[in-house]
Amino acid sequence: MPANLLVILSGSIAAYKACEVISRLVQQGHRVRTVATSSALQFIGPATLEGLTGAPVATELFAAGAALDHIELARWANLILVCPATANTLNRAATGLADDLPGALLLAREANQPLLFAPAMNPAMWAHPATVASVARLRHWGAQFIPVGEGRTACGETGAGRLAEPDAIVAAVTAALTPPGRRLRVLITSGGTAEPIDGVRVLTNLSTGRTGAMIAEHLAKAGHEVVLARARHATPAQGRVCEETFSSFADLDRLLTRLLAANNFDAIIHAAAVSDFSVELVPEAGADATVAPGKLDSHTARLLRLRPNPKLIDTLRERSRRRDIQIVAFKLTDHATPAAAQAEVRELLARAAPDFVVHNDLAEQTDTNFPATIHGRDGTSTACATRPDLAAALERLLSSQS
Ligand SMILES: Cc1cc2nc3c(=O)[nH]c(=O)nc-3n(C[C@H](O)[C@H](O)[C@H](O)COP(=O)(O)O)c2cc1C
Repeated sequence: MPANLLVILSGSIAAYKACEVISRLVQQGHRVRTVATSSALQFIGPATLEGLTGAPVATELFAAGAALDHIELARWANLILVCPATANTLNRAATGLADDLPGALLLAREANQPLLFAPAMNPAMWAHPATVASVARLRHWGAQFIPVGEGRTACGETGAGRLAEPDAIVAAVTAALTPPGRRLRVLITSGGTAEPIDGVRVLTNLSTGRTGAMIAEHLAKAGHEVVLARARHATPAQGRVCEETFSSFADLDRLLTRLLAANNFDAIIHAAAVSDFSVELVPEAGADATVAPGKLDSHTARLLRLRPNPKLIDTLRERSRRRDIQIVAFKLTDHATPAAAQAEVRELLARAAPDFVVHNDLAEQTDTNFPATIHGRDGTSTACATRPDLAAALERLLSSQS
């Protein structure tokens, strides 16, 4: 939903990155107004900010005709973002100084108005006890901090203190704007399991985990809390996604038990390609039947036996804290006729009782195309052409049901 966003820029070399953040927020439909310190205007011009937002940039507390801007702007904003936040601006805010426009605005802010700081400074300034104490104090007063990046800063020193990437800042703003009641806690599984044959060989599948990672990123950007349980070599997710990894079926099974017991998830999207079988060695005279931690001799061919794994999807609801958890299952068919695909989806809906089944067929899938249909338990169906379509549709469906 479009919101009124007030962005305060202070004098860091990273101010140019804040322009990218502002541009993206405007593109999302938000109304953005800016305040810049006089130091910030050493780095970017007022014309840039005015061009991006369509509104003049406010700079002076005592500007003619705008003497009460600090109250009006603070009341107008649904959220205040200080980006980039210099050491000076942070430390001043933590002492409650109000002798410039940013300081006065931050004091005039109402207690329930989200306030986010995106700091940017030299690593020594970020680690200084004055800054550390200011961050703690501002947090105590309800401010949120967008984690700084690590690496080489503009001044040539290496360490923590770089401005977060625009993506992360925009995601933090979106999350802060999402009312807690609409924020879902979602567990997503993705990627293929790897079943050990011995300590160095596995039986696996070609799942890349791209679908799960994309859904995770989309949900996180929409302000939801996301845990991505992905196969160790599967595509990781960018942004505010908490990741856990697994390797074999047994690993994933244990991970699910732990995560479902420890968290009150609202939804599970089970996109992982879980092996239908685990591997056992056929017992031989003098040789162990269990999968060895070491390497089987390359010159002796051992017989392998496949042991069926139980279907994890069938047990997710009973293992979850909430019995009304929304479950999304995936069904991949291979060159199935529409009738055969329907029958498979119906069988899965009847057996595992998920709320939705995402069906796709290998014949239609390419690197970029991912046509899929989301079948609801209530008989509804939603067609999606691509992975981003699928992610957006799942977000809509899960949010509207909770
Ligand atoms: C080239 C240059 C880059 C600077 N970059 C930063 C920075 O990234 N972070 C910071 O805290 N201060 C930085 N400073 C110092 C601030 O601009 C200075 O402390 C200023 O007083 C901050 O004022 P303000 O917080 O009112 O914008 C930089 C100064 C210069 C000259």
